[in-house]
Amino acid sequence: MGKFRIRGGRKLEGNVKVIGAKNAILPILAAVILTRKQVVLYDFPHLADVENMLLILKSIGCRIKRENSTLIIDPSDIKSWMIPDRHVKEIRSSIVMLGAVLARMKKAVITYPGGCEIGQRPINLHLQGLRQLGVVITESHGYLHCEAANMAGADIHLDYPSVGATENIMLAATCAKGRTTIRNAAKEPEITDLQNFINSMGGKVSGAGSNTIVIEGVESFHETEYTVIPDRIVAGTYLIAAAITGSEIVVENVILDHIQAVVNKLREAGCTFTPYRGKGLDAIGIKAPERLRAIEHTKTHPYPGFPTDMQALLMSALTVAEGTSIITENIFENRFKHVPELIRMGACIRTEGKVAVIQGVPVLRGAEVSAGDLRGGAALVMAGLRAEGETIIDNIRHIERGYDKLDMYLRSIGADIERI
Ligand code: EPZ
Repeated sequence: MGKFRIRGGRKLEGNVKVIGAKNAILPILAAVILTRKQVVLYDFPHLADVENMLLILKSIGCRIKRENSTLIIDPSDIKSWMIPDRHVKEIRSSIVMLGAVLARMKKAVITYPGGCEIGQRPINLHLQGLRQLGVVITESHGYLHCEAANMAGADIHLDYPSVGATENIMLAATCAKGRTTIRNAAKEPEITDLQNFINSMGGKVSGAGSNTIVIEGVESFHETEYTVIPDRIVAGTYLIAAAITGSEIVVENVILDHIQAVVNKLREAGCTFTPYRGKGLDAIGIKAPERLRAIEHTKTHPYPGFPTDMQALLMSALTVAEGTSIITENIFENRFKHVPELIRMGACIRTEGKVAVIQGVPVLRGAEVSAGDLRGGAALVMAGLRAEGETIIDNIRHIERGYDKLDMYLRSIGADIERI
């Protein structure tokens, strides 16, 4: 079980590059099986969750070659519609395989994905939407048995703009006869990336990024090459690293629109920004003050609101701000697991239900802490960069689900962090 050892108090400097987004590549890997032709994906991140998804693709018949950050996938010979338990239990996000397997195989069997560290994670909206497309789903002994012999387009309204439900319904609807409309759809950039990927193979999806997505069913798909969007949460993580250490760095390979909510909050805390609009992707420079100002109130909301995945990270920066900040976590019911660990490092935080009150302290002290989930673990790394003395973080497998070589990238901008 790996650990990180961090010696805090150092300034960061220089440039750091962001790579492909975990939450874009995962649904795109599911979408790969819609076609029988070759798919080439560039800039894919080396993450535990991605490795798991590749194992699922292999287990149902995909042939996969990889050359550094390029994946070459041959999905011509998909034999199975059984999505293997062990992988579904490993990562919840594999539930998005369901819509793709139904589109390709017209049936699927998948184990009910459990909850995870941050909440119960129900899939009622996924199943409701699929049933409206004509999928017959029976649940028995913890498995979902799905028949989709003749899916037909439907007019679906989501009670909540669920990212996963939007993706699953979109994937299944690509092969349903006629037109499907998803209203109150999630608007996250990863949904738009999925739409663009599906269309690059000959799909007919439009409206992603708005709250209404329209999918026209098609008979077949062709080959494609695609580069996923950069990870807006990893970009936000590097911005927090600069903010909490009072540093000046440049984060390269970002899409400025995707990180506006985080930039605005850090600007409110006293950071200044220099956007660089490049030919291809953008870059953003951040200059943080010696001490951040408190941020009156931050509430997590679906995109384009402040992202729940950045909540723990912003909280770590606010533990050393001047003044008292409030954070309300509106999306997941159990996403404050980092709070007791930050308190062990000297933070002054009180939580009441979904509200956290953070009273800024002048210093954090290094301590032995434990990652409880992906973004909460990353928040502990941020706190360690600032804390006096040495911080040891264990259970870093949680962190490595979403960050590819985080220690290497942070070392490249001056952090004293190593994997032990
Ligand atoms: C995606 O999870 C992301 N994961 C999460 O990132 C992210 O935090 C979340 O979207 C919100 O942005 C991937 O993309 C792989 P949701 P997802 O369905 O799809 C409730 C990370 O750190 N809900 O939008 O599971 C649910 O309980 C991960 O990278 C239902 O009630 O998010 C939650 O409270 C963590 N019924 C809320 O909606 C359903 O059928 C948001 O869930 C589905 C969801």
